[in-house]
Amino acid sequence: MCGIVGYVGNKDSLSIIIKGLKRLEYRGYDSSGVAISDGNTTRFCKSKGKINKLEKKLKKIKDISGPIGIGHTRWATHGEPSDINAHPHMSNSGKLLLVHNGIIENYNTLKEKLINEGFSFVSETDTEVLVNLIEFVKQSEKLKLGEAVQIALRQVIGAYAICVMDYDRPNELVVAKLGSPLCIGMGKNEFYIASDVSPFIEFTKKVVYLKDGELAIIRNHKPTIFRKISDNSKVLPTISRLELSLEKIEKKGYKHFMLKEIYEQPKAIRDTLRGRLNIKKGIVKLSGMDEYMDKFINCKKLTIIACGTSWHSALAGEYMFEKIAKVSVEVEYASEFRYRDPVIDKNDIVIAISQSGETADTLAAIKLAKQKGAYVYGICNVVGSSIARESDSGSYTHAGPEIGVASTKAFTTQMTILYLMAIKLAKIRGVISKKSFINYLHEISAIENKIKIALKNDNLVKKVSKKYMNSKNCLYLGRGYNFPIALEGALKLKEISYIHAEGYPAAEMKHGPIALIDKDMPTVVIATNKINYDKIVSNIQEIKSRKGKIIAIVSKGDKEVKKIADDVIEVPECIESITPFITVIPLQLMSYHIAVMLGKNVDQPRNLAKSVTVE
Ligand code: M6R
Repeated sequence: MCGIVGYVGNKDSLSIIIKGLKRLEYRGYDSSGVAISDGNTTRFCKSKGKINKLEKKLKKIKDISGPIGIGHTRWATHGEPSDINAHPHMSNSGKLLLVHNGIIENYNTLKEKLINEGFSFVSETDTEVLVNLIEFVKQSEKLKLGEAVQIALRQVIGAYAICVMDYDRPNELVVAKLGSPLCIGMGKNEFYIASDVSPFIEFTKKVVYLKDGELAIIRNHKPTIFRKISDNSKVLPTISRLELSLEKIEKKGYKHFMLKEIYEQPKAIRDTLRGRLNIKKGIVKLSGMDEYMDKFINCKKLTIIACGTSWHSALAGEYMFEKIAKVSVEVEYASEFRYRDPVIDKNDIVIAISQSGETADTLAAIKLAKQKGAYVYGICNVVGSSIARESDSGSYTHAGPEIGVASTKAFTTQMTILYLMAIKLAKIRGVISKKSFINYLHEISAIENKIKIALKNDNLVKKVSKKYMNSKNCLYLGRGYNFPIALEGALKLKEISYIHAEGYPAAEMKHGPIALIDKDMPTVVIATNKINYDKIVSNIQEIKSRKGKIIAIVSKGDKEVKKIADDVIEVPECIESITPFITVIPLQLMSYHIAVMLGKNVDQPRNLAKSVTVE
């Protein structure tokens, strides 16, 4: 889960690479580095910390410019963040330089072998092993760089997206991929290499997504060669056209990407619904589902796999599928699912949810489900991502790029797709009437406005946030559809404010967490439910009688909770199945404001990265 960038062309590569790395900083930001070749000399620079630290260091290096270069922004896996562990890594001869995203699982075995051959290592990284392995193969078999990379990679177990430079061949870069993302922007006599398309979006709209097991040799003014790593056979690349614009990946006046993305939710949901909803005709169109209608009609069980926030949307999906479509659902952490021996067969449907479409655990879980014969439906935001390609069919959320590490609009748009799937399934399985189907369509199309109304309470949320910003712990409670929201609210607070927070089903409180309650422990209670409203009120009473403070999220016009809660934030009234879309809004805002007030780095919280492409 690092970001890599490369350039081959006529422009000065350094500025392109630095700008590109900044766009990829969401993938990791503990150290960074570049290597630039002017055709004769290759110079490089690495630094612990964010890209701006690297920039400061670069200012002190004379003549670091040239039309070919590679760059890297790191999220540490092997070895702490430091100048030495930062990429690019150099081979023992000083001739090869390599940037890598992924993990070489057998690096210890390879390292021992190389040490026996006389190689030495300065860093703790698996990447330094890889660059020396390539060098060893190149020297011992007297090969060109591309061939050496190919043969070396056949010995590697793990995941990688790499970009390699050779002092002896200053006009070419060799790139390869397995498990980690890599794409090539095809300009006019120039090529851009990156972990995603954002570094080159303003230069070219033509992109080749390298597939797993492929390698490309990119040379100045010469056609790029695409090969399969396993048998050296030729690969005909597919050139896709990008629809993304530069504007979409910028902050547009917001202080942080996270805030922009919270505010983008009404539009993001509109985009998710676009072309999929026809209320007049009573139709939900999801082509990924339509293609496999028989499977959906006959399936006995749905298994939803995901990680983090996407797992929380899966949990909300469970309520939707069970309550609306009457289908049995299991929600699994992808990381657990992949190592169990899940009972799945060809009659099963597995839904995989991922914003990035690159989460390693989810990808591995999909592969396992497919091996067992299941049909996999992917819900992804990033078009062309690995999970989107690995799934049998699926739906894109069309939320637009999500840059803030804390997931917000991805969450609500994932739930939108799950909602559409649930009501469509309910209709085709004949478990709801036409009238109630149409009613659900009206409700989902009204979400956009309800979120806009919920966002209007931002100032109030900010005030409440100020009151509780110095808490050391926080409890989040919700029932039914709002239980996943309690989990999501707690995750948001934890990841960007570093305040310990726990989400619980409200009724579970008396089985343990109630012991934590005292005057210093605020509890956020999501109390919009109509079903079990009285029970939630009782839970609040229980907390109050132990001197706990209550921040309640209630439906407009609420009477009971208002009387007892310390702070109340209203959201628009809606049917039960729609509440999670609305109640999550004040919780996203609250975590955002607290993090800002505490002076935390909202978009790039410590120790995290946007897409977790390692186990
Ligand atoms: O890209 P994915 O949806 O697969 O990512 C899954 C999680 O890593 C992600 O949701 C993570 O939990 C977020 N940082 C939460 O805000």
